[in-house]
Amino acid sequence: MKIFITRKIPNRGIELLQGAGHEVVVSPHDQVLTPDELISGGQRADAVLTQLTDKITRDVLEAWKPTVKIVANYAVGYDNIDVVAAKELGIVITNTPDVLTETVAEHAFALMLSIAHRVVEADKFMRAGKYIGWEPELLLGTDLSHKTLGIVGLGRIGSLVAHHGAKGFNMRVLYYDVKRNENFEKEVSAEFRDTAEAVFEEADFISVHVPLLPTTRHLVNADLLRKMKPTAYLINTSRGPIVDEHALAEALRDKVIKGAALDVFENEPAMDPMLKDLDNVIVTPHIASATEETRQRMGEVAAKNILAVLKNKAPANPVQ
Ligand code: DGY
Repeated sequence: MKIFITRKIPNRGIELLQGAGHEVVVSPHDQVLTPDELISGGQRADAVLTQLTDKITRDVLEAWKPTVKIVANYAVGYDNIDVVAAKELGIVITNTPDVLTETVAEHAFALMLSIAHRVVEADKFMRAGKYIGWEPELLLGTDLSHKTLGIVGLGRIGSLVAHHGAKGFNMRVLYYDVKRNENFEKEVSAEFRDTAEAVFEEADFISVHVPLLPTTRHLVNADLLRKMKPTAYLINTSRGPIVDEHALAEALRDKVIKGAALDVFENEPAMDPMLKDLDNVIVTPHIASATEETRQRMGEVAAKNILAVLKNKAPANPVQ
């Protein structure tokens, strides 16, 4: 059978598909495909492996419908896919949960530690030749240890970030989620709050881990940012549009909050131009899951989901 991959991914997933005797066509353009390129690439394929940057709209799905049985997204998030249309058209959608949880949680801490310890500012300072000797008050940062960590969204990644904060840094953990999890509360002595506002008011570090849905778009807006302590930091490794990025840039410029660290942006690959000149924010280009190991595992999971559906079996990670 024919499998179309919309952009080159690490080899192991591709090899699994080829090893099962399928014809694998990887898009020759190593860039985000236009809607027309997406449609023509997937037409007459039996399965398509997509990226989070591919907009899989109803139009695209309808064009693929005659032959495509599964769209396997190479990501845990699937807000790029019209899953309602896919369900109506009988096309299975899968994602890649679990295999990236540890990596994304590590990246959330990489960001949290870097902004609190001013690692990026310090690196720029050294490279600019400004270090002329040790000083008692040079580039003073903030400890994570014994501070309050606020988690918004207690899914797989949010729970692991909470665990690392509690066990690794002796942080007090508060969380908000639509579902309360009392077992988890016992495990890491976490405290539930029934609104995001309550977490934003109390926490020193707030890490956002909700999926992008109509109800979570701009969940973090100017009002919520004003509820944060002036000494608090915001970390976002989930999806850019969950934060009103311009409101955040203004809050950082006006020192309404102490700092932010972002891996995702509202209009990727662009970011609000104001962020570029602010020292109290650090930014990474949507790489929270980008380790050699994890990107290989994501390819294997996507490939296994495809192989299952092509054998008329249930995939491990359906999203509907
Ligand atoms: C995901 O899997 O949704 C991540 O954002 C990709 O790194």
